[in-house]
Amino acid sequence: MKLLKSVAAAVALCAAVTVHARPLAEVQKDGKILIATEGQFAPFNFFNGTTLTGFEVEVAELVAKKMGLTIQWKTLGFDALLTGLRQDRWDLVIASHGITEERAKAVTFTEPHYCSGGMIIAMDPAIKNAKDLSGKVVAVQTGTSYLENVKKVSSIKEVKNFPTDVDARSALTSRRVDAWVTDRFVAKAVADKNPGAGFKLGDMLFIERIAAAVSKGNTSLAGAWNKALAEVMADGSYAQLSKKYFNEDVRCS
Ligand code: ARG
Repeated sequence: MKLLKSVAAAVALCAAVTVHARPLAEVQKDGKILIATEGQFAPFNFFNGTTLTGFEVEVAELVAKKMGLTIQWKTLGFDALLTGLRQDRWDLVIASHGITEERAKAVTFTEPHYCSGGMIIAMDPAIKNAKDLSGKVVAVQTGTSYLENVKKVSSIKEVKNFPTDVDARSALTSRRVDAWVTDRFVAKAVADKNPGAGFKLGDMLFIERIAAAVSKGNTSLAGAWNKALAEVMADGSYAQLSKKYFNEDVRCS
């Protein structure tokens, strides 16, 4: 009996300290949603001084407002984001994740908030498409869909991984690699900002739908997010934001 009691107590204690995905009702009761992003992927999520901003940061603010929630932001290395979601350390991740089959096994994706793709950037104008990458060294950020897709280009000499996309870009500017693969809008923003740097934007290697993610099976939270996202896409506020950042509407058609 004594043993049984202590086992029961231990089980109860475990249940009390076990973190679990917060369903919508719990988040609503709190009034706050904990969202994790990277903050190193301009113009989508980045720091302007000490202020976290960017297209998807602002989209998230619009969506959360429609949900009647305030956001508590957390910024971490890209690699830690989905892992932390699986450990229920935050409610949602928004960091330009492309919806992939592999990731969808581990997390639940919301509806996409934009469509884009991986683009080849080089200093040498002769490196434009997948064929041109033959025998070349290519820089990508670790854990990204760029890495997965560059690996599929058979005749590549080497894929170099970097902890941030900014580091991957630096490798190209310092000519340590022949090409860099990143998001087409990231590439465009970098080229626009540094007109004299010699970035040559090549072809898109693949396209992808970019979405936020919640803990696997947290359908109540994903559903509420999707409903609010549809609303900001319908009321003109998404369109306005997209125009401000990209001068075009980047939603998936
Ligand atoms: N879209 C790419 C992917 O799905 C890259 C995302 C990179 N995001 C970031 N915050 N650095 O993997």
